[in-house]
Amino acid sequence: MKKEGRNTQEVGGGVRPLFSELPTTEARGEDILLIYEKAGMSWAVNEHSVAVAFHARALAKAMAVQETAFLRDLEMGALLHDIGKIGVPARILSKCGPLTPAERNIVREHPVAGYILISHFEHLRGAARVVLHHHERFDGRGYPFGLSGNAIPLSARIFALADALDAMTSDRPYRRGRSFAFARGEIARCRGTQFDPDVVDAFLGAPAVVWTSPFDGARPARSSRWVH
Ligand SMILES: [Fe+2]
Repeated sequence: MKKEGRNTQEVGGGVRPLFSELPTTEARGEDILLIYEKAGMSWAVNEHSVAVAFHARALAKAMAVQETAFLRDLEMGALLHDIGKIGVPARILSKCGPLTPAERNIVREHPVAGYILISHFEHLRGAARVVLHHHERFDGRGYPFGLSGNAIPLSARIFALADALDAMTSDRPYRRGRSFAFARGEIARCRGTQFDPDVVDAFLGAPAVVWTSPFDGARPARSSRWVH
């Protein structure tokens, strides 16, 4: 019997023709959003992705990263980071309660699936590196490769903190969002384990308003139907 979500050839099959409409050398975030809308997949780039892209860019700037191409790839990678989940059955993504080991393995394929999907396009290759490594941890306990330290691309190390910040401070189907102070404490506690110490130091060294101002202290309602 065919296993769900396993055939990478099928991943993104519905969206591939739409990607071909993109210019070959450049793509704007708006182009990507339009494509997902046309494919009926606007859920793939949701409020979480937009918030993480904002935080990741701010974090890179706090680390004095100036390179335009790096910032563009980071932002685009953040917008698209979970696009590989289009290969994961909805019943798994929206399942209330813990996943079985088999279901967890399927979910954990989404970084590679997303990489395969977008690295086909030259102008998205930098972003694809963020997508591929966005679940790695600084201590090597992440996935899909268990890379550690500087073996993980800097863009993915920056992304990891931005993602965690937004995940902790926004509402989820199973819990209310935590305060910024709580998230700040958790990130400091995970310095050198989950997160790159240099990225954590840049985060802690920037004024809190950098991370909270885009929403004026009131988080927008999240429409994502994903639990996992
Ligand atoms: Fe992910």
